[in-house]
Amino acid sequence: KQRVAVFASGTGSNFAAIADAIDQGSLDAEIALLVCDKPEAKAIEKANERQIPVFAFQPRTYPTKADYERDILQKLNDCKAEWLILAGYMRLIGSTLLDPFEGHIVNIHPSLLPAFPGKDAIGQALSTGVRVTGVTVHFVDEGMDTGKIIDQEAVRIREEDDRYSLQAAIQEIEHRLFPRTIQALIQAEKREEIKS
Ligand code: GAR
Repeated sequence: KQRVAVFASGTGSNFAAIADAIDQGSLDAEIALLVCDKPEAKAIEKANERQIPVFAFQPRTYPTKADYERDILQKLNDCKAEWLILAGYMRLIGSTLLDPFEGHIVNIHPSLLPAFPGKDAIGQALSTGVRVTGVTVHFVDEGMDTGKIIDQEAVRIREEDDRYSLQAAIQEIEHRLFPRTIQALIQAEKREEIKS
């Protein structure tokens, strides 16, 4: 089984969807660690309920980003994580983690990238007035939501939609799309290993 580390900063509904997909047998992986940059985040409770190990840290207690990423790297190596899954992790990944894991870091973003990168993608879509937005799963590089796109799904914005209803529609898609895409990546890598 491939060992994944999930990174989250918030509610952790995508983290829970990944854990549920594993329990149901549709995702052939194991969550080795939850990495969380907000010690009060709901995601941590969800990990505790499932007895998944957590590394919670406060970035502001470290002198630099490289310092806290070195701590994360140590924990990732200790638990032998092979994939980093960013599920609502609201920070850019620096070279301390990118260099050793490039090609094995995946993010989910609530828009059809390259439209609406960065924070509040749902609010950006609503205020721009587009009729279609969606969800993107992509590889992570040093940019802000700029890495190679792996999969996308569109959501139509209805006249009556507000931030809450649109977020609910987007998250319903995320919870299906993310575990499925991770499973496809893991399977593709397994096939490569057999070939080589
Ligand atoms: C998700 O909708 C994810 O797409 C978004 O944060 C939410 C986290 O929800 N990510 C970004 O905006 C990244 N720029 P969750 O904590 O319930 O999984």
